[in-house]
Amino acid sequence: MNEKLKLLTSDLTETIKWFQDHLKKSEASVQIYTHLDADGLTSGAILGKALYREDIPFQISVLKQLEREEIIKIAEKVQDYNNVVIFSDFGSGQYLELEDKLNSNSIKTPYIILDHHFPQNISDKNDKKIKDIYKNSKPWHINPYFYEIDGSKEISGAGICYFFAKTLNKNNIDLSPTALIGATGDVQNRGPNNSFTGLNSIILEDAVKVDLVEKVNDLNFSPIKPLNEAIAYSGDINLPGLSGNTSKMLKFLQTLGILMEKSDGDIRTLNDFNQEEKQKVSSAIIRYVSLKLDVEPSEIINKLIINRYILKNELVGSELHDLKEFSYLLNSCGRSHNGSLGIAIAMGDRKIAYKKAREHLIEYKKSLAQALSWIHDENKIQLKEHIQFFFGEEVIPEAIIGTIASMLMFSKSDIIDKSKPIFGCAKRKEEDVYKISSRANDNIVKKGVNLSEAIREALKLSNLDALGGGHPPAAGTIVPVDKIDTFLENCNKIIKKQLQE
Ligand code: C5P
Ligand code: ZN
Repeated sequence: MNEKLKLLTSDLTETIKWFQDHLKKSEASVQIYTHLDADGLTSGAILGKALYREDIPFQISVLKQLEREEIIKIAEKVQDYNNVVIFSDFGSGQYLELEDKLNSNSIKTPYIILDHHFPQNISDKNDKKIKDIYKNSKPWHINPYFYEIDGSKEISGAGICYFFAKTLNKNNIDLSPTALIGATGDVQNRGPNNSFTGLNSIILEDAVKVDLVEKVNDLNFSPIKPLNEAIAYSGDINLPGLSGNTSKMLKFLQTLGILMEKSDGDIRTLNDFNQEEKQKVSSAIIRYVSLKLDVEPSEIINKLIINRYILKNELVGSELHDLKEFSYLLNSCGRSHNGSLGIAIAMGDRKIAYKKAREHLIEYKKSLAQALSWIHDENKIQLKEHIQFFFGEEVIPEAIIGTIASMLMFSKSDIIDKSKPIFGCAKRKEEDVYKISSRANDNIVKKGVNLSEAIREALKLSNLDALGGGHPPAAGTIVPVDKIDTFLENCNKIIKKQLQE
């Protein structure tokens, strides 16, 4: 990994030189365009901080995706002002489109892409064409697949932006925790016991070195929710008969002889527990699950005891103290159309933006819970032979369709069959298109399912020219309303083919 990092850093040095040369020719501020999820917001925050520290004026815009229409708008805007542009956490999947609209004969806009998604027309990390793209798009395009680094697991958009920032100025090492929040938002801490792998683990070393992050072993429950609620609604651990039922869960904990109330009457959180109490809880859970579900204790322990990453300078008990909770907060900002609040928080705001974001978080969590129960209670999942799909109708808007698809696929709930990919379809307001978000779990990705490829092939087969793609386990696009049946049927066929090959 160190050799790969050396090459990446040496390329980034070239990128920065190129960037600075172009800055000299431009009198306008740098325009940063970034994605709206936690990884995109942290990408924007890292770039913003790094440029601010160099006294380079900039503006950050948050977009739900770099669709063709957006690229056309950006081209019109920047050509008037001669800005230098940076695209973060998207841009690779649209690099040909960007070249066409921003770098055609009449317009030459200097731009940089710092991304971790598959480049346009590539959906397989072993595709030989990646090397050509690498060669031809130096020095303005940085992507982990150029270095045989897996962009779906080993580094996120924020991680790429972090290495850009650190190459620009080594003092930016203090932005390493922000990069880890981005990686966590993209669920990249998927090594054993939620560890980071690849370049993410090098970023973690940086964060530990500057004493900003600490890795601790802990129970895999939210550290800041009342513990009965945290266990009952855990996305990973299923306790038959107790999960989903906070009052039964409370009784279960009380029978262990653990005092559950604080002096003010509130229920205690994991943060309030000492080691001995945590030990009691974990033994009881292991005993309970191994009896009820007949699974080996070691299998339960692997899910139950995980690495937790603590942001040492943040207030204990706040969302910001824990990488995962921090990334939830940012995600909720982006997905409730408050991206700029998320960027402000990731850049260090602990006052107004943070306070507002926490208010939105409550609403956001409610809307997710409502969406999930609606799908469950009203039987909204439809099946084809090799895929499953649902329509958000009036209940699930475009902004959260991807989050809902992820929750259905990646959490322990059994609302859906995890052996088939899921496609969520949300009608875009005032346009005749659906936003599509597809998700597949690791088991079927290992068997050959690649959603980025499936979406791109299905678009082609359906004669659609929208941009689409992402990663093997998570990809998206947009599809006209009158083509949705054809598109989903083509997805079905392609997934069948992927599983046979
Ligand atoms: O939009 P959604 O959350 O479903 O996207 C899943 C993944 O696919 C994300 O990482 C997103 O950035 C990526 N994506 C993409 N190109 C698109 C749509 C989504 O790279 N046109
Ligand atoms: Zn990302």
